[in-house]
Amino acid sequence: MNASDQKQSLNWSELGFQYKKTDSRFRAVWRDGAWGEGEMISDEFIAIHEGAPSIHYAQQCFEGMKAQTAPDGRILLFRPDLNAQRMGRTAERLLMPHVPEEMFVRAVRDTVRANASWVPPYGSGASLYIRPMLIGVGENLGLKPAQSYEFRVFVSPVGPYYKTAGLGTIKLAVSEMDRAAPSGTGSYKAGANYAGGLLATKRAQELGANEALYLDSRERRFIDEAGSANIVVVMRDGTVVTPKSDAILPSITRRSIMTLAEKKLGLVTEERPIELRKEIVNFSEAAACGTAAVLSPVGSIWFDGDWHDVGNPEHVGPVMQQLYDLLVGIQKGEADDEFGWTVDVA
Ligand SMILES: Cc1ncc(COP(=O)(O)O)c(C=O)c1O
Repeated sequence: MNASDQKQSLNWSELGFQYKKTDSRFRAVWRDGAWGEGEMISDEFIAIHEGAPSIHYAQQCFEGMKAQTAPDGRILLFRPDLNAQRMGRTAERLLMPHVPEEMFVRAVRDTVRANASWVPPYGSGASLYIRPMLIGVGENLGLKPAQSYEFRVFVSPVGPYYKTAGLGTIKLAVSEMDRAAPSGTGSYKAGANYAGGLLATKRAQELGANEALYLDSRERRFIDEAGSANIVVVMRDGTVVTPKSDAILPSITRRSIMTLAEKKLGLVTEERPIELRKEIVNFSEAAACGTAAVLSPVGSIWFDGDWHDVGNPEHVGPVMQQLYDLLVGIQKGEADDEFGWTVDVA
């Protein structure tokens, strides 16, 4: 099966980042210490016990990935092994059972294949967002781990995450709220990290920003990350820098961008604390990066009651443009996949 098969009649280029029901989803249940085989189902609803720890104590986690159509019609995933490993790490932190990497990747491939008609065609600018999730579902009341778990993978065709024209610039506003405590769960993809961010995002958007930017919660000096993306900065001396912090999600996109900056552009890369107020004058370019955000250049940042420009706030800088083209070229199968990052779902 490939992307040349019958497609849904959607206006692909008009898609936003919203849920759209597709045909099938993967579901497997963990009970009595073991995972069941798993199956493809059509029902998008989940019936769970009212005492389930996922809905009371947020004993749940998720992942976010994308599938894209290559020029030759193949449907490609991007580094799914890393999402499987990250979900395993999060599951351990939340005392949930590990979804074996083989089962995770199989479930993702099967779900994408079963929904091939929903994978946006090559050149449409859209992609298929993939949402693997793991939730504690069994009957429970006290604060203890669930007795059973559901692993589910569903997909939805999506357009750009931020509302900008093409690779336009976005705005971030430093939040007065913290996202994660120094030894908390910030570096895990736990749903619990996100509910607290809803108000921060709302406040940021009221200021005219696309999203909140969090500083470290200990001193409020160093950049942590945005609400749903990591941060990458090109300094005036050409160095590509990204925050070192134990409280941020280890982004797969960021890891890939840093590799591309070093190996393909020959730039010096560094992972170190970035002190926003002191260093912003030395930023020549900045961007938010993630599966949903891809690489979204940041034009200005709000803090201490004012907007602060990064480079030319209306224009995408040359390094971010090159990194974007390199990354997206590999993800869409246009460029040679020299690092072996893509996986054909066939
Ligand atoms: C808080 C947060 N940071 C960073 C990222 C980026 O991670 P990745 O590149 O693995 O998608 C995400 C998810 O997209 C996120 O939710």
